[in-house]
Parts: sequence; structure tokens; C-alpha cells
Amino acid sequence: TLPLASLGARAETMARPITMIVPFAAGGPTDVLARIVAEYMRNAVGHPVIIENVTGASGTVAGLRASRAAPDGTTITIGHWGTHCLNGAIYQLQYDVREFAPIALIASGPQLIIGRPDLPAKNLKELIAWLKTNGDKATAGTAGPGSGAHVAGVFFQQLTATDFSFVPYRGAGPALNDLMAGHIDIMFDQASNSLPQVKSGTVKSFAVTASSRLASAPDIPTVDEAGLPGLYIAYWHGIWAPKGTPADIVSVLSKAVMAALAEPAVRQRFAELGQEIPPPDKQGPAALRDHQTAEIEKWWPIVKSANIKAD
Ligand code: MLT
Repeated sequence: TLPLASLGARAETMARPITMIVPFAAGGPTDVLARIVAEYMRNAVGHPVIIENVTGASGTVAGLRASRAAPDGTTITIGHWGTHCLNGAIYQLQYDVREFAPIALIASGPQLIIGRPDLPAKNLKELIAWLKTNGDKATAGTAGPGSGAHVAGVFFQQLTATDFSFVPYRGAGPALNDLMAGHIDIMFDQASNSLPQVKSGTVKSFAVTASSRLASAPDIPTVDEAGLPGLYIAYWHGIWAPKGTPADIVSVLSKAVMAALAEPAVRQRFAELGQEIPPPDKQGPAALRDHQTAEIEKWWPIVKSANIKAD
């Protein structure tokens, strides 16, 4: 248990349940990571961390809600490359993706390029060829306009000179369900979402968007090996509090998240989902702030010059 007493009068606030806002649908990748961390944060804070899914517009509905929540440690939000980096370049927002108080950087993992189970292509080259001849009717599911799945798909289109339409969902979870049912053709999906289905053979995988294969799925070739060199996407997740949350409360929350990330059961689940947990000295508030800043510097110019729009 954390030294809540060190918070003095604020210990009372921290003794109330914490709500963690998840900006996408239940059952999707962000929700799954959030629920694992929340369950183990409970050990450290001594009471439940409740998940609230606030979906819509690629996480910006949740972003606004989280930005306006009381900065007292009772509301935190999980977010990622899309919500806390890309959205700032793509949407006209009533909040700034950089304004939140960072708590912890929790993990990073690649995407998988996947297809519906009966898609005729057997590998990435065949997929590209299939898309070239079926572009007028081919569809890619996304977690919303401007989401990481959409942005990765636009990069893919630009690299391969293919054209297909994007179908937005309220999260990658419902999109994956429609892929398995054959209602959409492909997805650029976080490995944490689709790895279980890839392993059980209910979706096809073509490549992992990284320079090395996943330890938990060594059969899936990298984009370099599969014929699309350099399409690297590292989908990182972090946890934030509203701006103005006092530093001592941020510190308690950060320690609770880091305690969860040190749990062997959490580490094993994350590894199975293709998620790499940063070393402890790269998890805390300063590390998350630095990582987000570096990602914004890297991606905003790319996204702006690719002219990716939310509509
Ligand atoms: C989700 O949980 O649905 C995803 O994190 C959305 C996404 O891929 O950006």
C-alpha cells in the first residue's frame, strides 16, 4: 500500500475510487491494457480503479471530458499515440493534447496488418496486388477518422499506390469483430487487439509494423521482410491526469501504475499482447512528458504534410 498518509489532508480525496477514462470501446486494445493496469493499481491504492469507456471521434470526446475533470486525482485517463499525439495535428480541439499531467508511460507495441479470414491474399505482396485490383470496393476498418489505424492506412496507401475506403468504428474492438465476420477487408491494428485472433486463425496477418518480429508471434514477418520496408509504427500508451492535479497526488498515482507494471502477471499479459513495458526509469511522469514531446515533434509535421483530415 502506498503512503497515502504522506498526502496529509489530500489522503481523503485519494481514498475515493478513481475513474480511469478509456477513450475507445470496451474489449479493444486500450480498454484491455487499461483493465489490466487498473486491476493491479487497486493493490497499491487500496480501492477500485473503475473503467469508464467514453467513445467517439478517435478519442477526442474522452479527451475533452478528461481535460475538464476535477484535478484532484479521482479522474485519470489512458491514452496513446493517437489520442495524445496524432489528434493534436488532425483535429481542431477545445483542449491541448499536451496540457495533461503525465502519470506514466506504460507500454509500446507495433501494429499488425491483418485481413478477413477468407481474403484471397496469402502474403503482403499478394495483399497489395489484391488491393490494386479491388480498390474500388476494398475497405479498412479504423478506430475513427484520424486514429492511428487510419493514419497508418494512409501511409500504406501512399507507399503502395493503392486506394481503398476507411470505415470508422468507435474503437478497434468493434472493427475487429466486423473483420472476423468478413464485413470489412483489412485493418492496421494494434497487435494487442488482434494477436489472440491471429493465433487462433480467425484473422489473417500479413506483417508487423516493426523492424523485428514479435517474440510472442515469431511467425509474422516484419514489414521489411514482407516487402514494405520502413513502415514502422510503435503504438505507445500512457496515463494522464487533468492539468493542475497536484504533484503529490500525481506522484502517488504514478507509483501505483509503476507498481502494477512491476507485477509478474501484468508483465506476462503485456508480453503475450506484444507490448513492451519500458524500464522503470522510463515510466514516470517526466519520461511520459519527454516521450509525448518527441512523438509530437516527429509525427505532427508528417501528418500535416500527408494532409490527413478528420473528415
Ligand atoms: C482502441 O482501443 O480502440 C484503440 O486504441 C483505437 C486505436 O487503434 O487508436
